[in-house]
Amino acid sequence: MIQQGQLVTLDIEDVSSEGNGIGKVNQQVVFVPNTVTGDHISSRIVRVKKKHAEGKLEEIQENSKYRIRPRCIVADKCGGCQWQHIDYEYQLKVKENQVKETLTRIGGFNNFSVETILSDDDLGYRNKVNYPLGVSETGIIKAGYYQHGTHQIVNINQCPIQDHRLNPLLTEIKQDLQKLNIAIYDEKTRKGALRHLCFRIGKNTGEILLTLVSAQGSNHAIEKQAQIWLQRYPDLVGVSLNHNPSATNVIFGKNTDLLAGRLYLNEIFAGLTFHLRPETFFQVNTTVAETLFNQVLNQLNLQGEETVVDLYCGIGTFTLPIAQKVKQIIGIESYHLSIEQANRNAEINEINNVKFILGEVEVIFPEINEKPDLVILDPPRKGCQPQVIETLLTIKPQKIVYLSCHPATLARDLQKLCENGDYKLIFVQPADLFPQTPHVETAVILELQ
Ligand SMILES: C[S@@+](CC[C@H](N)C(=O)[O-])C[C@H]1O[C@@H](n2cnc3c(N)ncnc32)[C@H](O)[C@@H]1O
Repeated sequence: MIQQGQLVTLDIEDVSSEGNGIGKVNQQVVFVPNTVTGDHISSRIVRVKKKHAEGKLEEIQENSKYRIRPRCIVADKCGGCQWQHIDYEYQLKVKENQVKETLTRIGGFNNFSVETILSDDDLGYRNKVNYPLGVSETGIIKAGYYQHGTHQIVNINQCPIQDHRLNPLLTEIKQDLQKLNIAIYDEKTRKGALRHLCFRIGKNTGEILLTLVSAQGSNHAIEKQAQIWLQRYPDLVGVSLNHNPSATNVIFGKNTDLLAGRLYLNEIFAGLTFHLRPETFFQVNTTVAETLFNQVLNQLNLQGEETVVDLYCGIGTFTLPIAQKVKQIIGIESYHLSIEQANRNAEINEINNVKFILGEVEVIFPEINEKPDLVILDPPRKGCQPQVIETLLTIKPQKIVYLSCHPATLARDLQKLCENGDYKLIFVQPADLFPQTPHVETAVILELQ
């Protein structure tokens, strides 16, 4: 048996869905972060569990052919990305396999094919970043991601995966906050004001929103500075202050006050204009999300006569472009600001055959008085509640499109939909919305049998 603290030598044979290298010592599985298939390493065992052990990389004795030099200077510390050391082509291969393997192992599917994973730029893709703020021992303001598994901020002045147009703003705005001498929030003492520095950019329009999250109200110095920022950066269209006094890991509080400019940016997605606010969900990788959307749309071959329900519809990212191709569509979403924005987005694009309903899908969908031809689902990582699956199996739409950022819950839900032969899995499309991380997005289509 492996012991905690033991130094072991092992070959990394695969990469797990959590992103860690997998090796074996005397048939016992060991997970080691920051490694990749083909590495020969020594590792210090930090934890021993019933079925596996976890190790820390001590030394790489032989480099894998998939290992590359990270293109980020803080890659070894920062918890933002886990795969900066892995060649991008290999990242794609691992994700594609992961989708196939999970649908087989958890979903119980066989005899299905997986399309080639969709991808685009492996850097500069993130259109939204929320940086926690802290103070160094010498009193300098820090902004960055937490070190993996801790609440220690790794200070950064640029991030290779965020949209490159945000890099200058990150450095300069941090310097301005330092000059303003505003107290930074301390999560241990719960004293201080500023908690997060957040940016959102319209990939296709270049418009930027800056949002400061504060535990306290606004003050004159920040309001004055907001006007200066707006004048200094031509692409910055709005500066806001979100109020979050709670002891929580949730970034945004309930209220957002506009300090300068406007509360939304314009973005173009699937040929439509969308207003995006700072707090509502929008796909973080606009380009690949759009390619994925088009790929699914091509498969659906819509005729213009369909009734569609879009569950977990957010601000109508998929609902509105689909509305243009069908008779009518209903979107259901639980966040009131997203529904407000979805309605606004329908208005600005003059789309009238859509209805958005505010509420939880598991409550609203079972009561829906429609017999849709198509249901689209894009739930959060935890997947669907049982009531949603039961309703689908009762109303039996001809097709179901399920979009998911978590293959395990996708496979679990698909298994329930297909176990009695009601539905058949006819299309599986992975997409790399999150390069340099182990996360993968998948769209599948089920057809009624
Ligand atoms: C992955 S996002 C997808 C949004 C949208 N399809 C898009 O692409 O922009 C999931 C959405 O589900 C919403 N949500 C989470 N749990 C929900 C629930 N139980 N009922 C309704 N909506 C929910 C979230 O607010 C979020 O907007």
